[in-house]
Amino acid sequence: MVCLGNICRSPLAHGVMQRLVNENNLNWVVKSAGTGNWHVGEPPDRRAISVAKTFGTDISTQRAQHFSSNFFDEFDLILAMDKNNLRNILSLAKNDEQRDKVKLFLVENEVPDPYYDNEMFEPVYEMIEQRCQELIEELVERS
Ligand code: 4NP
Repeated sequence: MVCLGNICRSPLAHGVMQRLVNENNLNWVVKSAGTGNWHVGEPPDRRAISVAKTFGTDISTQRAQHFSSNFFDEFDLILAMDKNNLRNILSLAKNDEQRDKVKLFLVENEVPDPYYDNEMFEPVYEMIEQRCQELIEELVERS
C-alpha cells in the first residue's frame, strides 16, 4: 500500500488489509510505504490512528518507510493511493513484469489525501475498508 507520506492513507490501507488477512487466516505479507521520505520512522498521523481505532483497527505500531525498488521483487501487488503516486512508482519500475504489479488501489479513482482536512479521515477510512474487503474477495478467488 503506497501513498505520499506513509502516515495517513497507506497505513490505514495496510492496517485494514492486515486485519482482514488475519481474520481470513491468509498468510499474505502486507506492508506500506510512502513515495516521499519526510516521515520515515514516524508512527501514523494521530488522526489516522484515532479513526482506525474507532473502527477496530490498530495501526499505532506502524512506522513510516520510504518506497524502495526492492518492493518490486518482494511483493506481487503494489497499490497506489492516487495517480501521482502511481506515476512515481511506475517511474522506478525496470520492466513490464514490475510495471504489471502496480495498480491504483481504487482501480479508477483516487483516495483523497486527508492530511490537510480533518473531516476527510472518516470517509477515507470507510472507502479503504470497503475496497480492502473487495480486494480480499477478488484475490482469494484468483489464488
Ligand atoms: P499520506 O498523507 O500521503 O496519505 O500519508 C500525507 C502526509 C504527509 C504529507 C502529505 C500527505 N506531507 O506533505 O508531509
